[in-house]
Amino acid sequence: MRILVIGSGGREHALVWKLKMSPRVEKIYAIPGNPGISQLAECISMNMEDNRALADFAQKHGVNLTVVGPEAPLANGIVDYFHKQGLTVFGPTQAAAELEGSKSFAKGLMQKYNIPTARFAVFNNPDEAAFYIQKQGAPIVVKADGLAAGKGVIVAMTVEEALQAVDTIMREQAFGTAGSQIVIEEFLSGEEASLLAFTDGKTVVPMVAAQDHKRIFDGDQGPNTGGMGAYAPAPVVTAVMKEKIVHEILQPAVDAMRAEGRLYRGCLYAGLMITAEGPKVIEFNARFGDPETQVVLPLLESDLVDIMEACTSGTLSENMVSWRQEAAVCVVMAAGGYPGNYAKHDPISGLEAAKQQGAYVFHAGTAAVKDAVVTNGGRVLGVTATAGTIAAAVTKTYEAVRCIGFNGMQFRTDIAHRAMNR
Ligand code: AMP
Ligand code: GLY
Repeated sequence: MRILVIGSGGREHALVWKLKMSPRVEKIYAIPGNPGISQLAECISMNMEDNRALADFAQKHGVNLTVVGPEAPLANGIVDYFHKQGLTVFGPTQAAAELEGSKSFAKGLMQKYNIPTARFAVFNNPDEAAFYIQKQGAPIVVKADGLAAGKGVIVAMTVEEALQAVDTIMREQAFGTAGSQIVIEEFLSGEEASLLAFTDGKTVVPMVAAQDHKRIFDGDQGPNTGGMGAYAPAPVVTAVMKEKIVHEILQPAVDAMRAEGRLYRGCLYAGLMITAEGPKVIEFNARFGDPETQVVLPLLESDLVDIMEACTSGTLSENMVSWRQEAAVCVVMAAGGYPGNYAKHDPISGLEAAKQQGAYVFHAGTAAVKDAVVTNGGRVLGVTATAGTIAAAVTKTYEAVRCIGFNGMQFRTDIAHRAMNR
């Protein structure tokens, strides 16, 4: 089989790494890929949003399955276009990907189908939004409706902060048209977790629950990032809780999408708050999480190609998906200054030594310059290890992390702290 993976981050490196293990796979292409991925696949530099060029590539190279990593190509209708060309592709259609692409759509769907989530209101007018905030008081959460690269959410602890967020998103249009509509919602307290699931539009098979670490600094301090590390399984999601999330959230969401004529196939990601009243949805994503994928896929025992094919053909079943009884930890190594401005092109040392420690080093923002690997993004690497327990996986991962060096490098030293402190 020939497989094409779309994307260039740590998530896509993990996808390629896992797909490559399938005995059915003869060749993997990645567009555009990265230097880590290039050790496993042929990387081709091409615009990820040019559906026609991508489909032509897949036709010409006899690609049997395309796997879409990031949200932008999904929102751009890559899956619809590939279907029209008779190509097999893992991921939701444009209409189904709206579950991530429009927060107001997602909230409306949850309301209509009684899927537990924070109470909310949608606004097109900043004055009305401000009036609502004054009435509700703080803490309160303000979200740009559209895709804003994970930055369109402001958790406001004061009314002033919330009003400022409305100004930034709606009046100053900091996120462009993604902010012409906003969702204002109730602040939820509890512990967060991510539960991703495979689905063929009908059957839902959950993965191992993971926990992301969104803040840049230890102790969950500082600004939000794309994710500074993750671990799985997350003990906050007990077996009973997982069952509850599937029955109250994931299965109803997939059923609702089908009922709405937006058949959802691919990976459905539920970002959750485990509150005193039970699990509630913070957001849905129409794709694998990053860095959650880097800890979930190393625990997957089954063949990912078989599962993905079953998702695309409507033949998924629970017994196709089995998990190792182990734990995985991923520590993200970021460039100095991230999530603000950061330097690029700093040489990275110790990649081989980290591997010798038994870790996987997933590349995210790297570039190859002659024989050297240099930094080329905010999140540079995701160092991942598996072991029998979370504590052992933490130790193993940090041993590998300590081998790696680059100018300005920053990483959190407390990944999995919630599990360790239990
Ligand atoms: P999102 O981009 O929707 O994942 O939101 C980013 C982060 O904001 C989440 O990981 C939560 O930590 C926080 N957040 C979003 N919505 C809420 C909410 N309703 N209550 C509390 N925290 C929230
Ligand atoms: N780790 C959060 C996300 O992928 O959206």
